[in-house]
Amino acid sequence: MASAPETRIAFVRGQFVPRDTATIPLMDRGFLFGDGVYEVTAVIERRFVDNGPHLDRLDRSLREIGIANPYGRAEWVGIECELMRRNALDNGLIYIQVTRGVAERDFLFPPDLAPSVVLFAQNRRVQHNPLIEKGAAVITLPDQRWARCDIKSTSLLAQVLAKRAAAQANANEVWMTRDGYITEGASSTAFIVTPDGRLVTRTLSPAILPGVTRRTIMRIADQAGLALAERPFTRDEALGAAEAFYTSASTIAIPVTRIDGRIVANGRPGPVFRSLYDQYMQHVLENPQDF
Ligand code: PDD
Repeated sequence: MASAPETRIAFVRGQFVPRDTATIPLMDRGFLFGDGVYEVTAVIERRFVDNGPHLDRLDRSLREIGIANPYGRAEWVGIECELMRRNALDNGLIYIQVTRGVAERDFLFPPDLAPSVVLFAQNRRVQHNPLIEKGAAVITLPDQRWARCDIKSTSLLAQVLAKRAAAQANANEVWMTRDGYITEGASSTAFIVTPDGRLVTRTLSPAILPGVTRRTIMRIADQAGLALAERPFTRDEALGAAEAFYTSASTIAIPVTRIDGRIVANGRPGPVFRSLYDQYMQHVLENPQDF
């Protein structure tokens, strides 16, 4: 069945409701304080992409900020499947947000608030992004985020401003830098391939989000016999790399062909990117569903 032209039904605080007229209470702490966490999971040809690891990371983000996970794994998957069904979603993204809940505005939150859970879906063919063939332009900017970027917080002001700067520079993504090294993309994980063929991405730490797509790409690369290195790299090293790309649930992987207006390698998507991307699609379409 073809995907609906738009997705109409959201899950809002316990109920499936029409998305465009759905409301949340004014006093929701997600709205007032950005006091919440989120996940984005891709759906390709009616298959969830790495759904289990996304739900694991949601659980971890909640734990890190002291919100009790309101649902067990089977309940989460049940809500996601029902959302897909109600929206006839074949290809797209599922967005999940959990906030601390609704209370009178006060920085200090009362104990035992009921978390607010919101899910919606977006129709999109993640696998047909024109940047996969064309290559993306990134700019580098100082990383202005807080010290716990490993938590997938809904407080995204630094990333919103970074993306605006990218758009103003006719670029597709920002690679953020801290202490002279690239941390990650504004909404993606940064990778390079060194001239001697090593796949490099930054070590996990509170400075970056532990990307789910990053993890799968690393596994696929490892199985393919590629040499891997988890270490920080600079903008200059990226400019001299054989290839560069970024990964995220909403893009899977996108080759980077320009950094700060300068061409990377020969200016075309490279073979390591292409091979990893193709193997990722194979992983999505051929492996049993991983909840
Ligand atoms: N962003 N780093 C940051 C800062 C991100 O926001 C994201 C994802 C990633 C990649 O993580 P994953 O591979 O698990 O999607 C890395 C999502 C897609 C978003 O905010 O829309």
